[in-house]
Amino acid sequence: MDGDHTLATHAEKPATRRDFLYVATGAVAAVGGAAVAWPLINQLNPDASTLALATIEFNLSGIEEGQSVTITWRGLPVFVRNRTQAEIDEAKAVPLSELKDPETDEERTKPGHEQWLVMIANCTHLGCVPVGESGDFDGWFCPCHGSHYDTAGRIRRGPAPLNLVVPPYEFLSDTLIQIG
Ligand code: FES
Repeated sequence: MDGDHTLATHAEKPATRRDFLYVATGAVAAVGGAAVAWPLINQLNPDASTLALATIEFNLSGIEEGQSVTITWRGLPVFVRNRTQAEIDEAKAVPLSELKDPETDEERTKPGHEQWLVMIANCTHLGCVPVGESGDFDGWFCPCHGSHYDTAGRIRRGPAPLNLVVPPYEFLSDTLIQIG
């Protein structure tokens, strides 16, 4: 009987270990989806040395009204758009009560430079890069799962929970911004 008992015990151990490995792998897979959006947010809170390295200057003078460019900052794409007056007016006319992530146009731009919109170009759903001058609100449309952003980059429809993120930036002159 002892022999049988020992065999039975040995037979159970590998099975138990496999079960554990299976569960552990499942747990990693489960958090994988949630982790996708985290780097976008985490990179906005770097330590001081990272911040110093990650500051860039960008000259706006080549961007005409109604044009956008995509630049890179800290490895992230960033939209810089010179908005038309119609786009600004449209953004300002939206009541905050209609917004999923309420922010005024003024909160997303700099005083005296309201034609300029600077935003990290990753959809706040799962990080795709939305298409400009598209969607139901004349702003950006993310084709991955159908999120619509308005002319201030605010989420208006679709699964994205938040507005496109405005990074820390300032105007050094009328045509030069520093991001970071
Ligand atoms: S990543 Fe943009 S809607 Fe899902």
